Formats: sequence, structure tokens, C-alpha cells
Amino acid sequence: MNATDPLDSLRGVVGASHVLTGELTAGYVVDWTRRWRGQCAAVVRPADTAEVAAVVRICAGANVAVVTQGGNTGLVGGAVPEAGAIVLSTARLDDVGSVDDLSGQLTAGAGATLAAVQRSARDAGWRYPVDLAARDTATVGGTIATNAGGHHVVRHGMTRRHVVGVEAVLADGSVISHLGGLVKDNTGYDLAGLLCGSEGTLGVVTRARLSLVAAIDDVAVALVAFDSIETAVGAVGRLRRHLPEVEALELVFEDGLVAVGEVLGATPPVLGPAVVLVEAVGGPDPATALGDAVAELDGVIDAAVADDRVRREELWRWRDHHTETIARLGASPPHKLDVTVNIRSLPEFVHRVREVVARDAPEARLWLFGHVGDGNLHVNVTGLPPDDHTVDLAVAELVASLEGSISAEHGIGRAKRHLLGLTRSEAEIRAMRSVKEALDPQGILNPGVLIP
Ligand code: FAD
Ligand code: MLT
Ligand code: ZN
Repeated sequence: MNATDPLDSLRGVVGASHVLTGELTAGYVVDWTRRWRGQCAAVVRPADTAEVAAVVRICAGANVAVVTQGGNTGLVGGAVPEAGAIVLSTARLDDVGSVDDLSGQLTAGAGATLAAVQRSARDAGWRYPVDLAARDTATVGGTIATNAGGHHVVRHGMTRRHVVGVEAVLADGSVISHLGGLVKDNTGYDLAGLLCGSEGTLGVVTRARLSLVAAIDDVAVALVAFDSIETAVGAVGRLRRHLPEVEALELVFEDGLVAVGEVLGATPPVLGPAVVLVEAVGGPDPATALGDAVAELDGVIDAAVADDRVRREELWRWRDHHTETIARLGASPPHKLDVTVNIRSLPEFVHRVREVVARDAPEARLWLFGHVGDGNLHVNVTGLPPDDHTVDLAVAELVASLEGSISAEHGIGRAKRHLLGLTRSEAEIRAMRSVKEALDPQGILNPGVLIP
């Protein structure tokens, strides 16, 4: 970028102290896993939608790429800039409006964290059910742009289900805004829905109208150890059928629990070849209902049940700490895959992915965990050179052979662009490319992300 031209214009819009250059950009050019690294001409931090629009217009005029970044917790390198780009940080768009008690909705800035939205909802007697371990850093804009999943998809769906409308800046600097909170509005294409999962390639989300659900008081959590992956997966349907409501169904394995225990300095409450975390709500006494339901399951070798908040959180940390624990293992960052298969194929996938990694990378270690209720497993491999993609490809091919998806919830980003064709047809990719070209003909929004 010519230092005397667009950067000065950007300073004129957002103020000189909100255009960061040189060393000050260091934290914005590497991702959370430290596997994806880039460079940028500057980091720009606009304060409101009008400033975002002006920034995008300046960049479009100078043909400079714009990489939008929220909390930078994405796991596919989608917020990492390529040389010459500017990073548009949403950090200052962090307002959270009050809850509309009639509709159960609130409007939040794209840079507000998930935790801030959850807090506002809770303070008003409601709940924002999108939840993930990165809640304190991941933002509203980032979770929309990745259509984030997380712990409660089995009951509440992914982020898209909770987005009633958005305000966004398009590639030419124009603003679209639909924040009136209309639940029913079939007037043409669902632009908010299209921006969900668009990974910063179609527009910059600046604010969103989000729908909330009723707060819950009585919650019970169990960690249940099974004698095999088959019995663990077999429990999923039965738990959903026998409990009034299931909020979460998560899966971890013995080696992951032991590794988490080493980091936490604690002993796992249960151990077994496959361990399911189940969160139950509803009914007069969810803890008793959960205990009774677990007692009826096949293959249970141990279980721990909790209904008070402190003990529930203690059980949850054995699941939530997997990502951070695995990130600390090995000399180089883990290779992270995020796949779904039909839940019926999950046991087969677990056995076969172990064989694939043992065959293609005998020196590496495989870590599996995920959201068993959604058929979604996180396949992490440590001890591999960062640029060796052999195992990534082999795992993705296995997923494709089982008619699964190579990205369940993290998106495609830079990491999986070359794999998209494994589970999306040529016609689908052509349609995606047409949408991209129509909305961003210059290709300035997140070039190199998503579209192969
Ligand atoms: P960023 O990382 O900043 O950006 C992610 C993508 O969104 C990029 O392509 C970026 O360009 C785009 N983007 C960001 N903001 C905007 C905006 N305002 N407008 C347009 N595009 C934008 N993900 C899950 O789905 N489920 C999980 O359970 C889960 N658990 C996690 C646990 C940990 C410990 C960590 C580190 C990550 C986890 N993630 C999970 C991944 C990550 O938190 C999500 O992808 C999250 O949605 C990213 O939000 P962010 O604000 O950090 O976005
Ligand atoms: C999770 O479910 O914990 C995440 O999606 C993060 C990860 O895959 O590491
Ligand atoms: Zn996940």
C-alpha cells in the first residue's frame, strides 16, 4: 500500500491512533493455533458502521484487500491477512443493547464477545444459547461469519438459527441493515442467512439482531464412561428419547482426559474408552431423570452426575479444556480437522481414522473429541510438520467416502480451501463463486479464503 495515500485516508476516517502499523500488528497476523501466519499493511479499528463503510470504500478505491477480524479465535486461518491487506478489527464495535422482553431479542455490535451477549441476556432473565469454549474472546461477528456451532447445537441449532437480522457493509461500501427484529419476513433473498458462514468474503457484519431463549434454572450434567465407542454412540438416541430435553451431548476419549488432567493437575472423574458428557434440563428433577436414564444404558462403566453450578462446571472443564491442552502439545501447532459424518457412521469413522493416522504418520498422535449429538468430531493430529498435508488429505478423503462434511462448524478459511471439492459438487462451488463475484467483483473481501 502506498503509505502516503490510503493509509492517510484511513487515519482521516478512524483517527491515527486506530491505524496500527509495524510491530503493533503482530497479534493480528497470526491465528490462535499459531499455524497460520500472514502480514498486513495496517490494522484499522473503526468505531461504528459509518466508519466501517468509509474504510471499505477507501480500500475498494485503492484495490486493497480487507480481512475482517473479530476475536481471532477462528481455527482455519480465515482471519489471517495476506501481505498488502488491511485487517479491519471489529474490537470497537462492541456495544450490546438491552433485551426486548416481548420478542426475546437483542441487538449487539459485531465486536461484542459471546460472553458479553450471554451476560446481557442472563441479566434480563433470558439466555443466548450459542456457547463455545472461546466465549470470552470470540465475537458476535465472528460467530456469524463462521456460523459457529458449539455445545448446544443438538437442541438450539447453529448461530444462523439465532440471527434475526444483520447490518453489514458490502464490498462497495454500501450498508445493508435489517435490525427491526421481524421474525417473519419473506421479502426476497435472506441476506442475513447468506452472511452466516460467509467467513468475511461477502461483507463486514457490523451489528446483529439475535434471538434468545428462556433461561433455565434446573440443569444436570453427567460424564458417562462407556466400554466402547459403539455403546457411547448408541446412547445418544436413547438419551434424547428418554430425557425431557438434552442441551448437550459431547464426546471425549481416555487419552484426551488424561492429557487435560495433566494440564489441570487433577484426576479425571471417570475414565473409559469413550466418555460422553450429557447436559439435561427440564422436568421437575433433571438430575434424577439423568441418573435414571444413564442407569438404563448399555456399556456404562462409570458415571459422575452433578446438578449444582460449581460441580457442573467442574465436569464441563474436562470437555472444554481439550482445545487448549492439545494446542500445548508437541513442538509445532496441531493439525486440526473438524468433520461430521452421519451419527450412525461415527464408530466406523473413529476406528478408520485411527488406522489412517497410524498408517500415514506413525510418529504423530491423534486426538479425537467433539459434539457427538451432531455427529461432529474434532480430529487433531500433533507431532506433524506444519506443511505436511498428507494426513489432513487422508482424513478428509475418509470423511468424503462416508458422505460426511470436511467442515462441520469451523468453516473453510485458508486451511481447507483445497479440500472443499471433496464434499461440495462442482455445481455448488460454481454457484458459490457466482455469489462471491456478484457481491465482491473486485475480490477485496478476504481473498484466498473459502472459495478454492
Ligand atoms: P475470527 O477468528 O476473528 O474470524 C473468523 C472468520 O470470521 C474470519 O474469516 C473472519 O474474516 C470472519 N469475521 C470475523 N468477524 C467478522 C465480521 N464482523 N464480519 C464478517 N466477517 C467476520 N467454533 C465452533 O463453531 N464451535 C466450537 O465449539 C468452538 N470452540 C472453540 C474453542 C476454542 C478454545 C477456540 C480457540 C475456538 C473455538 N471455535 C469453535 C472456533 C472459533 O471460536 C469460532 O470460529 C468463532 O466463531 C470465531 O469468532 P471470532 O470472533 O474469533 O472470529
Ligand atoms: C470445540 O468443540 O472445542 C472446538 O470446536 C474447538 C476445537 O476444535 O479445538
Ligand atoms: Zn467444536
